[in-house]
Amino acid sequence: MQSKFRKNFLIVSATIATLVSSTGALAQETPIKVGFMLPYTGTYAAIGNNITNAFKLYVSENGGKLGGRTIEYVSVDDESDPSKATENANRLVKREKVDVLVGTVHSGVALAMARVARENKTLMIVPNAGAADLTGAQCMPNLFRTSFTNWQPAYAMGVHAAKKGMKKAVTLTWKYAAGVESTDGFKEGFTKNGGTIVKELTLPFPNTEFQPYLTEIAALKPDAVYVFFAGGGAAKFMKDYAAAGLKNSVPLLAAGFLTDGTIEAAGVGGAPEGLLTTLHYADGLKNSKNDAFRLNFAKTYKTQADVYSVQGYDAAQLLGAGLSAVKGNIKNQDEMIKAMEKAKIDSPRGAFTLSKSHNPIQDIYLRKVVGRDNQLLEVSVKGLADPATGCKM
Ligand code: PHB
Repeated sequence: MQSKFRKNFLIVSATIATLVSSTGALAQETPIKVGFMLPYTGTYAAIGNNITNAFKLYVSENGGKLGGRTIEYVSVDDESDPSKATENANRLVKREKVDVLVGTVHSGVALAMARVARENKTLMIVPNAGAADLTGAQCMPNLFRTSFTNWQPAYAMGVHAAKKGMKKAVTLTWKYAAGVESTDGFKEGFTKNGGTIVKELTLPFPNTEFQPYLTEIAALKPDAVYVFFAGGGAAKFMKDYAAAGLKNSVPLLAAGFLTDGTIEAAGVGGAPEGLLTTLHYADGLKNSKNDAFRLNFAKTYKTQADVYSVQGYDAAQLLGAGLSAVKGNIKNQDEMIKAMEKAKIDSPRGAFTLSKSHNPIQDIYLRKVVGRDNQLLEVSVKGLADPATGCKM
């Protein structure tokens, strides 16, 4: 016969075992909290909305769950303001206790977010910001990017311009990480292939008083102008460039952010018509994933998909790949990271894998604006990987 002590001990341990397994199961049943830190006001507002909408689209296509867990959202408008970034990111991580940070658009804001993600070991997925350091000197196991580095499309355009025989170019951009890295990338591709940059012009973000710069460009008469602008400011720039009479005399080249999601605002058939840009997406890409994605996005949100929505959709796909591998247990971060590193994302842009530093290795397309679309002309560079300078991982 069992002693009374042994009997009680067995009962107590059985109760503990039940409690442990039921809290374990409970943990799997509580939703995963996704923290969107994105711009919902200002020059990048439409970009933030398209990323958010497309992320949610992928989740709803999968019954509202990833890796078996319901997905719940909390969002903060980062206003593309680096001075508010640390506080905003801390609010999501510490007060809202999000499981994953998704953001953002502006490189300066994303760099501050990444510091918070590092301190707290929070998983972070960047659905746009192209700052080199995010997957370069500041790379970390818990940070992934589903977009690009500013260098990727810019470098491709530099090579293209030089190969077309252009010799002298002027660059113009907002003076912050994205603009500087983009014009540097163009410069690298252009000068390596025989071109010269005759002037590098900048203005503070997000100013749109372009007139003095356009006057200077007209006086310099270069073979081409390369710019980095995006969102609302990009639409205004295209209009001002055409109104200054430069469109027909000095070819305007850019990373595709100039014309993605901005054609409507700049005037279909007007200022954007015919512009050449390079990007990791184009409107008419022929693959079944892209067809289905564009149709569903347009049906759900009554607006056309663009590169930003593709990046947001792929951020959700990447999170899904990680969560499926750990059956929804986001606390198993090491295993989740391993699965995300190995994932092949079936993107509307074409399938891609991630580099060692967690940035997409992807084709860069040369596109031309025709009507409402950024039409594909050719693959400009196949499988372009960012050099990931300074990343030790
Ligand atoms: C950036 O700040 O990295 C950035 C912003 C908008 C874009 C592209 C890059 O369209």
